[in-house]
Amino acid sequence: MQLQGKKIVLGITGSIAAYKAAMLVRLLVKEGAEVQVIMTPASKEFITPLTLSTLSGRPVLSEFFQNADGAWNSHVELGLWADAMIVAPATASTIGKMACGIADNLLVTTYLSMKAPVFVAPAMDLDMFAHPSTQRNLEVLRSYGNHIIEPAVGELASHLSGKGRMEEPQAIVQHLKDFFFADKNLVGHKVLVTAGPTYEKIDPVRFIGNYSTGKMGFAIARECAEQGAEVLLVAGPVSLPTPHPAIKRIDVETAVQMYEAATELFPECDAAVLCAAVADYRPTVQADEKIKRTEDNMTITLQANPDIAATLGLQKRDNQVLAGFALETNNEKANAHAKLAKKNLDFIVLNSLKDKGAGFSVDTNKVTIIDRDGEQEYALKSKADVARDIVSYLSRLLIVALFLFMPSQISAQELNATVTLNTSKVQGTNTEAFDVLRESLTEFINNRKWTEYTYEEHERITCNFTFIVDGYSDDGSFTCSLMVQASRPVFGSTYNSTIFKYEDQGIKFTYQPYDRLDFTEDNLDNNLTALIAFYAYIIIGFDMDSMGEMGGSEFLNKALNIANNAQNLGDSGWRAGSTNNNRYTVIDDYMNGAMEPLRLLVYRYHRLGLDTMFKDAEGGRKVITECMNLLKEAYENRPLAYITKLFTEFKQDEFVNLYSYEGGESEKREVVKILSEINPSQSDAWDKIEKSAFK
Ligand code: CTP
Repeated sequence: MQLQGKKIVLGITGSIAAYKAAMLVRLLVKEGAEVQVIMTPASKEFITPLTLSTLSGRPVLSEFFQNADGAWNSHVELGLWADAMIVAPATASTIGKMACGIADNLLVTTYLSMKAPVFVAPAMDLDMFAHPSTQRNLEVLRSYGNHIIEPAVGELASHLSGKGRMEEPQAIVQHLKDFFFADKNLVGHKVLVTAGPTYEKIDPVRFIGNYSTGKMGFAIARECAEQGAEVLLVAGPVSLPTPHPAIKRIDVETAVQMYEAATELFPECDAAVLCAAVADYRPTVQADEKIKRTEDNMTITLQANPDIAATLGLQKRDNQVLAGFALETNNEKANAHAKLAKKNLDFIVLNSLKDKGAGFSVDTNKVTIIDRDGEQEYALKSKADVARDIVSYLSRLLIVALFLFMPSQISAQELNATVTLNTSKVQGTNTEAFDVLRESLTEFINNRKWTEYTYEEHERITCNFTFIVDGYSDDGSFTCSLMVQASRPVFGSTYNSTIFKYEDQGIKFTYQPYDRLDFTEDNLDNNLTALIAFYAYIIIGFDMDSMGEMGGSEFLNKALNIANNAQNLGDSGWRAGSTNNNRYTVIDDYMNGAMEPLRLLVYRYHRLGLDTMFKDAEGGRKVITECMNLLKEAYENRPLAYITKLFTEFKQDEFVNLYSYEGGESEKREVVKILSEINPSQSDAWDKIEKSAFK
């Protein structure tokens, strides 16, 4: 049920493949989507509206007005209602109308009003598909940001065989899922991409150029934009449309112009991918008049162009990532390694002209990514898929760069812990021991380096360790409970969002004033420091999970290790199975594969939701609403996991704040439904959201 609650407009046009639309509707409904079918008049010759309305459970729309009562079928409302529109099958005629805005039926008017992403699955004869007119129209749709689901190669209705057969319904649904669950790792980042050849003028009618088409660079620019980046695309002379509306394109012709644009833009970017095939030399003199044929031999003197990659390599700050390409014909890896070092790149993408299907003009590529630590070879893939590999490599480096090289680093102090000891239950005993313990714990938590990462001021975690001492005796033995609470700051605001909160009970340890608090991972015999280390790693792990997809594994595994190794300490809470909400199960459940949806949620909720709300409140909240489906999935995968419940508990005030004032009625209801199912005991909080839906 990965498309649970998604609202899909499915446009069906007059192609023989329309019969497949029935299967498509069924699959979408099975995945939990609400489907509104719109048919063009011609499509009704191929499949009946009755079939489709039965399968979708909604009346099929086709005309601008209902014949019976003249009610208007509002394409504007449909454009706002939908989370996605699919046109499948899409005939050459409808594709042409969509490209040119010819709004003579309800399907095209709805397309023109559509606010949500649009997917187009063409279906036609091979020659129609290959015709330059169709291809140009598809390019135009791509440039509007529409997703073209390429037709498959196979036998066609005409009995000819070739490219034009509509992609199978399963594959179309997969495209949709890939889109909704795509990585959005570059939100908040700005990326510079250079692409295409450069032309170096000889005279007014001639130039020195190369065979680069710009396809690889444009695919990378598109992928970066898809993943949420702001993209600056510096393009040499190519005949490609801008592949995504979020790309700012700067057209240049010569290497010098490309150099000027790139060096000016790079300082404001977080990363640059240099795909352009820049001419190494330009004619020393560019003739003003056309050069006439005179002698049998002629010589053009060339002078070196600036090396853009090497210049940006010099300009590069530690928190910027710079990537280049190397197209080699011999000694490939050695040459690529040399370029990596010479140009101070973070990684280089090598393609060899020796590999079939790699390089200029073709739609495929086979690359090896090389960085200072090693190399990774990839299979032959479409340029779009290669772009995805490269961008995912880039985004990983960006996260590392962000953590390792913050411009104004604060040394250590990742946790900023406040320690409180509530001793009201044990008054009259040795108060000095309590004061010394509080100070020693504060020092132990805040001075120890729990990670190699350093945090910039606006990224620092804050946390509270509150001990409630239930029992104490002069031999130094304590019984207490501990409330741990940690928050991370939300980007662009002064708000701190709770990332972990847990009340741990029945803790026992011994401490004499001035005992040295120390912790080593292979020696856990001090229950107090093992406990603190456990929570320190959990907090850092949750924080890093909120910064990158499952980014906290290293630290969460350390916490899990402590819990596993402390099983023999004899104190309650470390052991599996004692109760279903002890500290062991909290981490054990969270790290279980079945709970991956919850870990993905922690990232999407904070990074793509809360962190983006300062510039797009509604968009951020929409992401958060979508996250509720992940919460539900985690709950369904492991209904008894306490951590899912815990999450809804410590986030409840935030949920109420997010939804009580803003958000649509159906959105609120959906959220309340999921939260009530997972955690019925917090119904007061969920009621507040529910009630606000009626305001
Ligand atoms: N590059 C650049 N500016 C140049 C030349 C190259 O930015 N004037 C970049 C390319 O975009 C590519 C990388 O440098 O990312 C390597 O390009 P390539 O032409 O293979 O490197 P060269 O240094 O020109 O080496 P060669 O001697 O092989 O031509």
